[in-house]
Amino acid sequence: MKKSFVVFLIVLVGFLAVSCKKSVAPALDTNTLPITPLPTLKGSAPFLIGASIDPTFLRNNLRYRETLISEFNSITIENMMKMNNIQPERARFDYARANELVSFANQEKMRIHGHALVWHEALPGWISTFQGDSLAWENLFKTHIQTVASYYKGKLAGWDVVNEAIDNDGGTRNDNSSQGSIWRRKLGADYIARAFLYAKEADPNAILFYNDYAQESNPKKLEAILRMVEDLRKSNVPVEGLGLQMHIHINTPDAGIVNAITKYVKTGLKIHISELDIQLNPSNETLERPTVAQLEAQRLKFLTVVRAYKTLVPKEQQYGITQWNVGDADSWLRTYLKKNEFPLPFDMNYEKKVSYYGILEGLR
Ligand code: G3I
Repeated sequence: MKKSFVVFLIVLVGFLAVSCKKSVAPALDTNTLPITPLPTLKGSAPFLIGASIDPTFLRNNLRYRETLISEFNSITIENMMKMNNIQPERARFDYARANELVSFANQEKMRIHGHALVWHEALPGWISTFQGDSLAWENLFKTHIQTVASYYKGKLAGWDVVNEAIDNDGGTRNDNSSQGSIWRRKLGADYIARAFLYAKEADPNAILFYNDYAQESNPKKLEAILRMVEDLRKSNVPVEGLGLQMHIHINTPDAGIVNAITKYVKTGLKIHISELDIQLNPSNETLERPTVAQLEAQRLKFLTVVRAYKTLVPKEQQYGITQWNVGDADSWLRTYLKKNEFPLPFDMNYEKKVSYYGILEGLR
């Protein structure tokens, strides 16, 4: 080996040794690194963010419970305050399962929204065989509202007092069609006003809501609700809030959503997006698993709804946004309608979907 080549090798080895030494990064002290917590829905919103909840899932599914605790600061009682569950037999009131949810929310310092004092569905069996004159029916109606609302007096922020009383043609839901209401038939159309008056007497501080669906897609129904609310307010009936359920799908036009929110805002009442979910598959084809395009369309629709609410509803009217159920696995579309749907921002394992980030973007 030539002497010059040996010298070259020595220089090269020396150079490499120095550069390797230089490139070794100093050890990181992980204890002193700043930790940036991930954003959450409730931490990113200037109003309350809710989910409807059910005691069976809360008891049995840890991921469900953890997701609720980390992401939400408001709950709606999905089923356990409905008449079939809370007065299963005449004059026997059963608060046990609703109270499980109330205790959980209190422990986690969440707001509680009551749902629903008067609805034409979720009625106990004994109602359909109840015999009595109009006074007896009125008494039954008033007793139900006042017993339940008094029991929860001071514990709930608000109540859906009357749910879905307007039909798809814009009339007061009658009992002579598939869209019928036994309350309208037995008590007359004024039952709506009396429900609010009875509820106010029983719990003067709860915010009282009229709650319904399809305002974003059915202008006739939207206008009918607005007329009804205006009439009620003129007669000093304490309707204090409006719930837009928002069970929508990825093709629901944005313009309809914006129009419904804008018109509701003009009433000056509190506005609650009360049952938000967004179906991927409105045409009901068999959907084994969501496509990337559907999930992206869902993300954009969540973004639209949340941004419209945040920008169009003045602060003092913002009661908040509540989604109906927590994750895709516990959605009513699966458990009740048996549809293979994926309508929520958390997937079947309570992992965040792209829709979750659509909500965060809408909140920015
Ligand atoms: O808990 C029982 C279970 O033990 C039993 O095995 C099973 C058999 O079908 O039924 C289970 O209860 C069902 C419950 O959903 C949970 O799946 C009830 O029968 C069923 O009536 C109930 O449906 C609820 C529906 O309202 C009717 O009350 C849905 O959970 C609830 O999400 C849905 O919510 C409504 C809102 O109140 C008003 N707006 C529309 C919204 C969706 O329909």
